[in-house]
Amino acid sequence: MLQFIWVLFYLFRNNGELMDNNNELRQISIEGAPKIGEGAHGEVYRLDDETIVKVYRPFVSMEDIEREKQLSKWAFVKGVPTAISFHIVRVGERYGIVYELLNARSASEYVRESEENLEDFVRKSVELMDQIHSIEVMPGELKDMKVMMFDWITKCREYMSSDTCDRLVELVEEVPDSHTLLHADFHLKNIMVTGNELMLIDMDTLCVGDPIFELATIHNSYREFPSIALEAAAFLGIDVDTAYRIWDRTLELYGGDDDTALLAKIFGCVRIIDFMDRHKDAAESSMCIAACVRDIEEALPLAARR
Ligand SMILES: Nc1ncnc2c1ncn2[C@@H]1O[C@H](COP(=O)(O)OP(=O)(O)O)[C@@H](O)[C@H]1O
Ligand SMILES: [Mg+2]
Repeated sequence: MLQFIWVLFYLFRNNGELMDNNNELRQISIEGAPKIGEGAHGEVYRLDDETIVKVYRPFVSMEDIEREKQLSKWAFVKGVPTAISFHIVRVGERYGIVYELLNARSASEYVRESEENLEDFVRKSVELMDQIHSIEVMPGELKDMKVMMFDWITKCREYMSSDTCDRLVELVEEVPDSHTLLHADFHLKNIMVTGNELMLIDMDTLCVGDPIFELATIHNSYREFPSIALEAAAFLGIDVDTAYRIWDRTLELYGGDDDTALLAKIFGCVRIIDFMDRHKDAAESSMCIAACVRDIEEALPLAARR
C-alpha cells in the first residue's frame, strides 16, 4: 500500500516537472549543504530531511542526465527498491537531479564492520539481484546487453586476433536472448543499507539481457578492476581481499560454477576494453586494456563449448 501511495505521489510530482520543463530550469543553491556522497558522474549533497541533489560533473550531457532521471522513474514504478527522482535543476553552472533522500547507510561501511555484515550483505544483494532479474521488460524498452556486447567485440578487434574475437562472438551468440532487467553497475557504492533491506541507486546503466551479463559487471567491480589496480577496491571503500571475497561468495550464493565465473570474466573484460578504448586519454587506459586482453586470452580456451 505504501508503495502505491508513493507511486501516485511520484507521478504527481512529475507532472509538475513537465510544466517546469516548458520554462527555465529551477536554480538551486548547495551553499552550506553537506556533501554525503560521490561517484564517477556526480557529487551528492543533502538538501533537507527528505531530498538530496546529485550534481553532475561537467562532462555529463543534459541528454544523459534526462535519461538517468527517466530510468530512475521507470525503475521505481517497476518496483525496483530505489530513490524517487524528482526534477532536474541548475546548480550554479552545473546540472543536478533532486532525489528522495534514502535513510540509509553506505554498504561499504556496513561490510567493513564485521564478517557477519559481509555475509548478510552478499546474501541480501544476491536476493536483490534475483528480484531485479525477475522484472520482465517490453522488447525495445531498454538497451540490450547482448547487442552491445557484439559492438564491443568489434572494438576488441583492434587489440586481439580475429580468431580470439570470432570465438568471443560465438560465446555471446550462445547466451540466450532475454528481456530480463539488469542493473549493470551492481556494486557496493550503488547499493545502500536501510534497516534490514538493500536499496539500489544509479540507474543510468539499466538494460536487459541474460543475468550472466550482470555477473560480468559484478566480476569487473570486485575482481577484475581490483586485480588491475588497488585503487579500484579503495574506490569501493574496501580492500582488495574483501573485494575478492565478495565476488567469490556472490558467485557461490548465486549458484554459479567455474564456467559461469569464466564467462563473467570474459564478458566483463570485453566491456572494460570498450570503456577504456573510449577513454584512451586516461592514464590507466592502455594498462587496463592490456590486462583484459591477457585475461581473455587465458580464459577463452577454458570456457566450455556448449
Ligand atoms: N538518494 C540518495 N540518498 C542518499 N545517498 C545517496 C543517494 N543517491 C546517492 N547517494 C550517495 O551518493 C553516492 C554517489 O551517487 P551515485 O548516484 O552512485 O553517483 P554516480 O553516478 O556518480 O556513481 C552514492 O554512493 C551514495 O553514497
Ligand atoms: Mg554510483
